[in-house]
Amino acid sequence: MGRDLAKVLITEEELQGKIRELAARIDADYAGKDLLLVGVLKGAVMVMADIARALRLPVQMDWMAVSSYGAGTKSSGVVRVLKDLDTDIAGRHVLVVEDIIDSGLTLSWLLQNLKSRDPASVEVCALLRKPEAVKVPIDVRYVGFDIPNEFVIGYGLDYAERYRNLPFIGTLAPHVYGGEGD
Ligand code: PRP
Ligand code: MN
Ligand code: MG
Repeated sequence: MGRDLAKVLITEEELQGKIRELAARIDADYAGKDLLLVGVLKGAVMVMADIARALRLPVQMDWMAVSSYGAGTKSSGVVRVLKDLDTDIAGRHVLVVEDIIDSGLTLSWLLQNLKSRDPASVEVCALLRKPEAVKVPIDVRYVGFDIPNEFVIGYGLDYAERYRNLPFIGTLAPHVYGGEGD
């Protein structure tokens, strides 16, 4: 692993501090409400697990797995549902938990999909956002960190399914992925 990592962008301590901050805001905003957290597999696994444990509110947790459709481009905006929610979200307060908003295409599609199911509300909590990469502006209520347009790994984020288990966010050395952008 060592040589594949270019640098640590956000340390484990910084991540956990931000998680506590976001959880406190969510606790305050949803006090007295029945909240359903929806994690987007697989990237959101770490942030979902940590946010959920940092909350004081009792919440329910559900998961969706989605995949960009078509070869080549990472996010075509056409999304396939690999695993749908188990929960009927009609009338529910839903908070979508994501690891990163890159182009915004995945979340844009997902939000439209979820809103069509008549929830009481849908908001987004994204640990990371790349303002320079965004193609579709997303209204995000809770953002952890705005980061530069670099290929990031760790804390749920993968490169070719690896590095998800790093407890921090790092950037990948260009030699690993051929030096091209994300
Ligand atoms: C990554 C990331 C977000 C999405 C963001 O997921 O976890 O879900 O891409 O990209 P976008 O804003 O450009 O749409 P990915 O499709 O790699 O699946 P994964 O979570 O299983 O790694
Ligand atoms: Mn993802
Ligand atoms: Mg991925």
